[in-house]
Amino acid sequence: MASLLIENIKCLAGVRRENSLLRGKDLVDLPVLDNAFIIVEDDRIADFGQMKSLSGKKLPSSVIDASGQYILPAWCDSHTHIVFAASRESEFIDKLKGLSYAEIAAKGGGILNSARHLNLATEAELFDRAWRRLEEISRLGTGAVEIKSGYGLSVDGELKMLRVIKRLKEKSQLRIKATFLGGHAYPTEYRENHNSYIRLIIEEMLPVIAHEKLAEYIDVFCEQGFFSPDEMKTICEAGKKYGLKPKLHVNQLNSIGGLQAAIELNAISVDHLETMTEDDIQSLARASTSRNDATRPTIGTLLPSAAFFLRMPYQPARPLIDGGCAIALASDYNPGSSPSGNMNLVIALACIQMRMLPEEAINAATINGAYAMELEEEVGSITVGKRANLILTKKIPSLAYIPYAFGSNVIDKVMINGELV
Ligand code: NIG
Ligand code: FE
Repeated sequence: MASLLIENIKCLAGVRRENSLLRGKDLVDLPVLDNAFIIVEDDRIADFGQMKSLSGKKLPSSVIDASGQYILPAWCDSHTHIVFAASRESEFIDKLKGLSYAEIAAKGGGILNSARHLNLATEAELFDRAWRRLEEISRLGTGAVEIKSGYGLSVDGELKMLRVIKRLKEKSQLRIKATFLGGHAYPTEYRENHNSYIRLIIEEMLPVIAHEKLAEYIDVFCEQGFFSPDEMKTICEAGKKYGLKPKLHVNQLNSIGGLQAAIELNAISVDHLETMTEDDIQSLARASTSRNDATRPTIGTLLPSAAFFLRMPYQPARPLIDGGCAIALASDYNPGSSPSGNMNLVIALACIQMRMLPEEAINAATINGAYAMELEEEVGSITVGKRANLILTKKIPSLAYIPYAFGSNVIDKVMINGELV
């Protein structure tokens, strides 16, 4: 058995004996141990405590000294689209020049642009490009990640994406969850014939996805000009028959009842939430507690880097937290609205732009992110038996320094499954 002691840790943050989803005012509760140690055995956390309780223990021979350093659980990024064929910086330039979303879409841009490139790429090319992005985010401290399809929008394209995600899962040290997002946009040929595309999803895609076990979640982009709440319901109900649970894009650009429909579907999470009415906030607060033993609470996943990149109003984190909601933070890493998977930046934006406290942001990006992927038994906190997925910071003065020094790399080392990356 490989075992390792990390000693003299200035502060070990996110230490939890028990899991709980953090709602409302509890989100700020980030338990820490000063002057601490942690023992890693193989890929798991075997023990931790304060240095003074170390004497008398049988200690591993491999030792890392972490004087002056903070250690926290690796980020749990519960919403990404990291399988894509090509970046879209020409659209970015068009936007800088003042073109609207609609004008860009009319020029063949947007999701359909990504779909064109994806359908031309081979599975091997897509794997390679996504693999590099996974390596990049793991160096930035991400240890678990959800990845969506949604740039195929054809039977072959969607299955190709999901098979790439399955291979990433098998090969990567990161814990990965897969989401089927066939309902991301209507392909041009189905613009006037929504039912036929929905039928394609239900009759041609879902059975193969279930048969090959390609996804655990189902997602739909519920938005004006994309999928209506009713269309989302039809797709999700079909997905549920195959055991896929909903994790949904709602309330990004407009509040059209997507959030309430998602809650009725017992969504694991409702993601984006840039556009929330008072009523939407109350609906989510009510859904934040389990409705019965079989139903998990619905988590609101905020994606501040998408709001940043699209120059949109940020998600109303304070009213959501103060209203008692359970929220997570994620990167939305994708070529159109958030070409970054840097969770450190997400944390900084959450604090600087959304007034989340550093402890709230760290919890939302670790334990609550783990809940938003149903991975709370494995990752998201410093807990004996969980995976040794750790961020070791450089020597920094405080935890608040992480979001404060938003442009600096504060990470010294990242450990995933007990191995330094
Ligand atoms: O989550 N909003 C919908 N989908 C993606 C962006 C899609 C794209 O532009 O490629 C998102 O932001
Ligand atoms: Fe997204």
